[in-house]
Amino acid sequence: MAHFGRNSEYIRMEGKKPLDGRLQIQGSKNAALPILAACVLIPGKCVLRGCPCITDIECMCSLLKSTGAGVEHSGSQIAVDTCSVREYRLPEKYVSAMRSSVVLMGAVLGRLGEVHVNYPGGCVIGERPIDMHLYGLEKLGAQIWIDGNHIHAYADELRGAVIDLPFPSVGATQNIILAAATARGTTVIKNAAKEPEIIELCKFLNMAGARIDYAGTQLKAGRIVIQGVELSKLRGIEYEIISDRIVAGTYLFAALAAGGKITLENVPIRQLGSVCDTIRGMGAEIVIGEAENEMTINACDRDRITNIPYIETDVYPDFPTDLQSPLLVAACMAKGKLTVREKIFSSRFRIVEELRRMGAEIAIEGDTAIVTGGRELEGRTVIARELRGGAALVVAGLCASGITTVADSGFIRRGYQDIAGDFTKLGARISYGE
Ligand code: EPZ
Repeated sequence: MAHFGRNSEYIRMEGKKPLDGRLQIQGSKNAALPILAACVLIPGKCVLRGCPCITDIECMCSLLKSTGAGVEHSGSQIAVDTCSVREYRLPEKYVSAMRSSVVLMGAVLGRLGEVHVNYPGGCVIGERPIDMHLYGLEKLGAQIWIDGNHIHAYADELRGAVIDLPFPSVGATQNIILAAATARGTTVIKNAAKEPEIIELCKFLNMAGARIDYAGTQLKAGRIVIQGVELSKLRGIEYEIISDRIVAGTYLFAALAAGGKITLENVPIRQLGSVCDTIRGMGAEIVIGEAENEMTINACDRDRITNIPYIETDVYPDFPTDLQSPLLVAACMAKGKLTVREKIFSSRFRIVEELRRMGAEIAIEGDTAIVTGGRELEGRTVIARELRGGAALVVAGLCASGITTVADSGFIRRGYQDIAGDFTKLGARISYGE
């Protein structure tokens, strides 16, 4: 079973060694999870390749099995047979373990017409309501009852609707797409999320027989149009999961922070525009090998590494909130000041207290952090409290003098299949412990 919340795992490293080497980037957690959920909608057998070996994927596989689906998970390949899906009540222990369990609502509702689920769990990075998810499902004709922490959704028949999202929520867009795919009639999602993981979900569903217009002018205008199809028209398919832009970005910021030169392979290059602009703006060189999906960052000349004055996180294609914590660490190691405004989540500066204990100088003013760079970080025992902050603390340990221990590192395994193994390939002195 996956580890969530406090756990006895830790990662120990000795810092101050520039990174050097090359590394394959794993499959994308945030592309694989909604596509696994989408398998429930498709009566048949799907085979997904290139899935990351992480605990959130294990958790989603357990959820699929709880619906009655057959799941064969070997390495990065997952085969899902949903011919016998019939259970609409999803077990609390898995739903509470991660946020992305919520998109199973749209898939199970579309397949069975009913779903019982508790409020999802997930990283404590701020208020994470699901009001937009429920609004979208109700617009599609679902009746929803909430009893404390439990949500019961029921739909005699899902019908297409025009759904105008107040915010381009990734999860709400995914949930609506999944419920609308087999609804009667046409659904138009306005102000839809445009993340690459949304595109991947639409591509997967269309390959399986759905009719989703998600590209070109529609999406530029923030619209996704879904023509509902009969459930029987959907067929099981094989699909390759894209590589993980956030894991790739984490390692780019690690090289920027610790110094050195690394090459990443199997990188979703076109999804990292704002990240590469930021890193180049901070003085590192990035060379792209389009042919092999390779990206090399050279941050050896430490005199050149200087903070840009300001950046804010925003929806895709702007700077991703999931890389805000690794950016903070890189900013600690660069000259000058960086002001970072976190516009997506209400509490995503939780690693600042841990970084301060290592010697960082970071002031917090509401949704903004002001980092004064050029500080030496000292190795400490620090505590991971969520996935991306935990990964950023590992990056900080690679930059700090002496030994750093990142405790509760089970959070990190939710999204990084082997962060210590990856950094070892890049020349770091790092290992797991328990
Ligand atoms: C997805 O979360 C990702 N998770 C997150 O990655 C990512 O940070 C986020 O999108 C933004 O890109 C997965 O894909 C599994 P949202 P999601 O709905 O869908 C508010 C990681 O580390 N909101 O776009 O939960 C919400 O509170 C994770 O891999 C509502 O108010 O993100 C937040 O402030 C962390 N009501 C903002 O919108 C709703 O009904 C963005 O949330 C839904 C969302």
